[in-house]
Amino acid sequence: MNDLMKAVRLHAFGGPEVLIYEDAPKPEIGNGEVLVRVRAVGLNPPDWYLREGYKMLPPEWQPQVSFPVILGTDISGVIEAVADDVLDFSVGDEVYAMVRFPSGLAGDSRAYAEYVSVPATELARKPASIDHHHAAGAPMSLLTAWQFLVDLGHDEPNPLQPRRHEPVPLEGRTVLVNGAAGGVGHFVVQLAKWKGAHVIAVASGEHEALLRDLGVDEFIDYTKTNPEDVARDINLVVDAVGGPTSGRFLKVLKRGGALFPIFPLGFEGTDDARRLGVTVSATQVRSNGAQLEEVGRLLEDGTVRVVIDSRFPLAEARQAHQRAAKGHVQGKIVLTVD
Ligand SMILES: NC(=O)c1ccc[n+]([C@@H]2O[C@H](COP(=O)([O-])OP(=O)(O)OC[C@H]3O[C@@H](n4cnc5c(N)ncnc54)[C@H](OP(=O)(O)O)[C@@H]3O)[C@@H](O)[C@H]2O)c1
Repeated sequence: MNDLMKAVRLHAFGGPEVLIYEDAPKPEIGNGEVLVRVRAVGLNPPDWYLREGYKMLPPEWQPQVSFPVILGTDISGVIEAVADDVLDFSVGDEVYAMVRFPSGLAGDSRAYAEYVSVPATELARKPASIDHHHAAGAPMSLLTAWQFLVDLGHDEPNPLQPRRHEPVPLEGRTVLVNGAAGGVGHFVVQLAKWKGAHVIAVASGEHEALLRDLGVDEFIDYTKTNPEDVARDINLVVDAVGGPTSGRFLKVLKRGGALFPIFPLGFEGTDDARRLGVTVSATQVRSNGAQLEEVGRLLEDGTVRVVIDSRFPLAEARQAHQRAAKGHVQGKIVLTVD
């Protein structure tokens, strides 16, 4: 058997130009793992954070990385081999997963490749009604939306705050989603609608038609109107852009409301939140096959759709990263592995 495969690796940190399409050893599987023949890979911001050497993380959080590194976490594909102790999956099953996150932050997820080893606990059956490209677009973004809004799904310590992140009731509540057209945002919008919320989407105007089609009740084009100047009496703000500017949304919330910054690093406004009676809470997404099985039912019956921004062959991962760097992403960027 050929023990080499094609993969996209980096031998140094840097811009998209450090991504090299080349031969790499085919992974071996250990106990509890399966080998997946990858058909599509979904891109996520941690891919470029790792490519750049996690410059955006505080130094004490930056993982030690040994080169060469294969980027990526999200895959959809077909099982090629299973370890003897894996009973729930068989060769030939079509599956999707977010691989080893956050445990693989240092480059141990290895999704930009023809083959990847995946712990069986992180796998779920691909929804039969969607293709591998759409399935690969779901795992990290949809699990993030699910773990913030519906069910955290684990009791691991939260690296972002001392207390457990708790979802809040959504039915009949008004939810404002900033960054609504992006990978995480477009799933947050759909889950909030599914749960019976009144949803206000904030995005640049080019995304209005899509977001209306996904069911949002109101749309704010942030390039024309500051959402914090017009929105009031909101129960929950999900800020899928996040960062230091998230605190500007505190004033749109009702007392007793909540702000979930999906990217909470640099959040300024803890004192204001306390004064205004608003809960600010975040979590870090974690791999979870059982949850992917559950959300897979919503993908299967069309309740939740995966929107594809663009597709690139695996060999053109560099161009895919260049697309991401231009911003204004609508849904997911996907690599195809044929
Ligand atoms: N906590 C976690 O575990 C976790 C998990 C996943 C992701 N994240 C973080 O969540 C963030 C979003 O990730 P993603 O995958 O959804 O990224 P993405 O697909 O690139 O989406 C970002 C979206 O934000 C919009 N946007 C940019 N600037 C904006 C602004 N000023 N106001 C409103 N919208 C703006 C962009 O489009 P337009 O500007 O055209 O509207 C784009 O659609 C990233 O920082 C990521 O690191 C955290």
